[in-house]
Amino acid sequence: GKKFTTSSFIEGKKKNEKISMLTAYDYSTAKLLDEAGVDSLLVGDSLGMVVLGYENTLQVTVDDIIHHCKAVARGAKRALIIADMPFLSYHVSVEESVRNAGRMIQEGNAHAVKLEGGEEVVDKVRAIVRAQIPVIGHLGLTPQSVNLFGGFKVQGKSEEQAKKMIQDALLLQEAGVFAIVLECVPEALAKLITEKLSIPTIGIGAGKYCDGQVLVTQDMLGMFSDFKPRFVKQYAQLGENMKIACKQYIEEMRTMEFPDKEHTFAMDEEVLSKLY
Ligand code: KIV
Ligand code: NA
Repeated sequence: GKKFTTSSFIEGKKKNEKISMLTAYDYSTAKLLDEAGVDSLLVGDSLGMVVLGYENTLQVTVDDIIHHCKAVARGAKRALIIADMPFLSYHVSVEESVRNAGRMIQEGNAHAVKLEGGEEVVDKVRAIVRAQIPVIGHLGLTPQSVNLFGGFKVQGKSEEQAKKMIQDALLLQEAGVFAIVLECVPEALAKLITEKLSIPTIGIGAGKYCDGQVLVTQDMLGMFSDFKPRFVKQYAQLGENMKIACKQYIEEMRTMEFPDKEHTFAMDEEVLSKLY
């Protein structure tokens, strides 16, 4: 089908057509998700947790994202590819932020970048957009702030937090982002923010009124068992199925049921006889 672009995000909101997003970190998964028709693939820094086994996202580097983004880009034909800006890649200076965002496009083959935060990052957002790089914002539970938040918890429940989030969303829109991810935000607040913005909101743990939804693919497919956030719905139990398949393989190779004839290469009897 036709490529999904940043304009398709805006059109999606206008036409009231929900925008789908899933994370991807490798070629074959990206290909499957793209073939299934997902609108956009996020090479998220959740990579650190679900693929690299870190406790949080803070150790992920620009090079890590680029490495995986290249693989995802090779696998996707239609989906818009978004590279997550990892911790420290847009915190030091505007210059470094533009440089790192540029690398995601130039080396990683991403179409856009995503970064966390509101008012404190708008100067970076503006500079990156000026460099012709589309940007997605991310508000609510921003995992790179885990040490400041003191854990992973719902954001925006108090009047003060909610007012700041609304203000941040408007500032990001004004700075030129083409969408905003809302993570772990009460449904009613996400709905209000969605109504106030002309750009789409993409929710994760933010209720059904966002303009789109995103999930971590490993969570959605039941492949990540370290913990299960409330907002995850498992659409498959691939982890359990992988274990069953793996156990069967071990059993069959032990009993020599595998490999069978169809998996095996034969040799000419006459040639063989000369070897003995
Ligand atoms: O890194 C990630 O997967 C994300 C999504 C959860 C939005 O940022
Ligand atoms: Na992320």
